[in-house]
Amino acid sequence: MDNRPIGVFDSGLGGLTVVKEIMKLLPNESIIYFGDDGRTPYGTKSRETVIKYTRQDLAFLLSMDVKLVVVACNTVSAVALPEVRSSVKVPVLEVIEPGARSALKKTKKGRIGVIATPATTSSGVYPKAIKSMNPNVQIFSQACPLFVNLVEEGWWDNRITRMIAEEYLKDLKQAKIDTLVLGCTHYPLLADVIRDVMGDEVALVSSAEELSITLKELLYKEKLESADGEAAYRFYTSDSVEKFRKLGKMILGKEITDIERVDMENYDQITCKL
Ligand code: DGL
Repeated sequence: MDNRPIGVFDSGLGGLTVVKEIMKLLPNESIIYFGDDGRTPYGTKSRETVIKYTRQDLAFLLSMDVKLVVVACNTVSAVALPEVRSSVKVPVLEVIEPGARSALKKTKKGRIGVIATPATTSSGVYPKAIKSMNPNVQIFSQACPLFVNLVEEGWWDNRITRMIAEEYLKDLKQAKIDTLVLGCTHYPLLADVIRDVMGDEVALVSSAEELSITLKELLYKEKLESADGEAAYRFYTSDSVEKFRKLGKMILGKEITDIERVDMENYDQITCKL
């Protein structure tokens, strides 16, 4: 048994979609969440910048004595994690592998679409992960950079969001995919619009659910489960606490009280021990 919190981080607020699933499946686990809203988005930044930010984000979470780290951000999982993972001394879970596994469970025709940020799309990690599990499927990728801004703006379902979704998704519709991986923390929040555009016959995959199942299994295997008791949730943002509270409530579906602003410049990636 280990009552220390699980650390979860993302480039911003979108990772709360992952937190929501963890809270649902593992109600006894305490969570410390860090959203790097001050420097979001990561998905349009260079590999070097994403790696630098990731090192600082990890240094911050590890300074809070977390027992395990969940990387909720697809861009970090795709671009930075292969670089920094070996230097982290606690178990680290990412979102790509669970998303790939879930897509293969759902596809019937073996025609899988992946939508993600430009950084995740050009890294090619989703097609690689899916093909390594089943080389016989066909993958179609599409970057949808504006989706992140639409979610952050709270425009989860309106005329403009629908128009942009129609434009981004038209090639995937033409490709007659039967499964679509929402390969970005923010995209599950646009699921209604995406489903309407793609049609009910296309199964939508969000990594968050599958990741929570993997997390549950890992906690059990490593004897890291929390003893029964009240879980505590603490949230940190590198930007406005008010914005975090407002959008966070929309994503989690409940009020968030314990939020603090943190200055990432204090987490020097060189001097902070990972
Ligand atoms: N969290 C990022 C991801 O899942 C999306 C937002 C961003 O670009 O930073 O890829």
